[in-house]
Amino acid sequence: MKVLGQSETAQVEMRPFESPPFETIDEEAIAALVDRFYARVRQDPTLAPLFAQAIDDWDPHLATMRRFWASVLLRAGTYRGNPVQAHERLEGLVPAHFSRWLELFSETATELFSSPERERICHKASLIGATLQSRVCRGDAVTGS
Ligand code: HEM
Repeated sequence: MKVLGQSETAQVEMRPFESPPFETIDEEAIAALVDRFYARVRQDPTLAPLFAQAIDDWDPHLATMRRFWASVLLRAGTYRGNPVQAHERLEGLVPAHFSRWLELFSETATELFSSPERERICHKASLIGATLQSRVCRGDAVTGS
């Protein structure tokens, strides 16, 4: 599958798949997940403004996110960074953003992967999301919404 560059990512068409194209998780599948997910994020009225606040150049962010998910799902060990600090810098980040993020991420993983990999990916994302949210939104009431 083609990996999209910065200008293409924003305009990617969300064509549905007849069946999920990936049965196994590898670097190519992770690149597809990251590109499709962030193309959605950038069109989402709830999430897009937070990303626009922090990201001018999407290519480095997409590359970081591919390394992050390869390290989580394939134990690639290629991600170096501090997600808590990165999210603490974002003004106005509240629990509802995390719920929406997870919703879009799960939708994307479900389109791209068949079972049981889709459940493994969604489970990891939900665990990481819950940890990040509790560290970053300490002052906000955690309502689950
Ligand atoms: C399960 C939830 C999430 C995960 C796993 C996640 C993961 C990450 C990771 C690994 C990075 C890279 C940090 C680095 O530079 O090393 C990142 C950056 C970023 N995330 Fe998230 N994120 C989540 C939720 C969110 C939400 C809800 C938002 C906003 C609505 C958000 C906005 C951003 C932005 C704007 C950056 C770039 C920060 C910067 O470069 O200054 N993330 N995220």
